[in-house]
Amino acid sequence: MQIILKAILSVTASIVFLAAGGISAQPNNTYIRILPIGDSITWGYGSTSGNGYRLNLRKLLAGSNVTYHGHYRSGTMANNNNEGYSGKLIAEIETYVRGNGTLAEGPNIILLLAGTNDINIDHKSTTAPEGLDSLIDLVTTSCDDAAVIVSEIIPIGGVEQEARVQIYNAAISRIVAMRTGSAGGGKPILVLNMSDYVIAADLGDGLHPTDEGYQKMADGWLDGIKQVVKKGWLNANISDSVSVTSDGSTTAVLSISGEPATQISLGLNIEAELGRSVLAFVVVMGLGSVL
Ligand SMILES: *[C@@H]1O[C@H](CO)[C@@H](O)[C@H](O)[C@H]1NC(C)=O
Ligand SMILES: *[C@@H]1O[C@H](CO)[C@@H](O)[C@H](O)[C@H]1NC(C)=O
Ligand SMILES: *[C@@H]1O[C@H](CO)[C@@H](O)[C@H](O)[C@H]1NC(C)=O
Ligand SMILES: *[C@@H]1O[C@H](CO)[C@@H](O)[C@H](O)[C@H]1NC(C)=O
Ligand SMILES: *[C@@H]1O[C@H](CO)[C@@H](O)[C@H](O)[C@H]1NC(C)=O
Repeated sequence: MQIILKAILSVTASIVFLAAGGISAQPNNTYIRILPIGDSITWGYGSTSGNGYRLNLRKLLAGSNVTYHGHYRSGTMANNNNEGYSGKLIAEIETYVRGNGTLAEGPNIILLLAGTNDINIDHKSTTAPEGLDSLIDLVTTSCDDAAVIVSEIIPIGGVEQEARVQIYNAAISRIVAMRTGSAGGGKPILVLNMSDYVIAADLGDGLHPTDEGYQKMADGWLDGIKQVVKKGWLNANISDSVSVTSDGSTTAVLSISGEPATQISLGLNIEAELGRSVLAFVVVMGLGSVL
């Protein structure tokens, strides 16, 4: 193990993420390209501005260089792009996302929340997990530079629907676990339990959040993005945004408002030299903190 670790260290640059805006001389060096994929909740239906969670999340990420991607434009915000297919089932979302070509826009973070329409319709609910399984395959194979945050669906008003929500959400961790860890190829995917943030009382119409609910969703996504950074999964697009110093170490800047001004040292491989697999190996072996 020691030898392997040394080998990794010798080719691994140490990347320092500085949290908190304004403290670095290299502002906005980490380019965060977010592709939000889902249904009307991603589109922002039910929010007064039409921005849904997206503007709130952008504000929480103030100080970082963030762009949203996707062929839809919805909401009053400037860069209001998304892939939020209102009323669509997971299988339809998969077809449209593939058809509209937005996976080629090079996101490094994908926010995926799909299944509410399937689960809301009783006879469609049983195939929802396999639909999500297939959609996750599509995004991970098309966007191998991206970390994928798969959100459990938010509550649905109605006792029967809510029971189906629980079953579907429990399946999501199993679907993701098949792709992560040493057995699953170490894919950078994490599950976010959005019910820790949004509760049934935050729904305006039994399906879509109110403005307050969308703010809570943004809080949830931010926590997910912080986890992605801590795991070293944010592809900082090194050639564009990272300066290499004479000792070979590199510095990337990620500013997340509300964070204390602490430094998190992460082992992050230089992709061109090593590929993601070594990073995945390091994370899987639990050596991230050693680096
Ligand atoms: C954001 O990053 C991209 C890619 O590195 C760069 O082209 C763009 O100028 C940056 N924008 C800002 C405001 O720094
Ligand atoms: C990043 O750029 C934005 C404008 O695009 C600016 O408002 C913000 O202060 C910058 N962040 C830092 C840390 O300098
Ligand atoms: C692209 O998205 C639109 C909705 O904006 C949808 O109607 C269309 O079928 C999609 N295109 C493809 C080729 O999937
Ligand atoms: C998600 O969180 C809620 C409340 O915080 C909990 O009731 C639910 O069981 C969790 N879901 C899963 C799949 O663990
Ligand atoms: C970095 O981003 C640019 C577009 O801004 C893209 O063309 C390039 O392929 C990206 N490189 C990596 C390593 O992701």
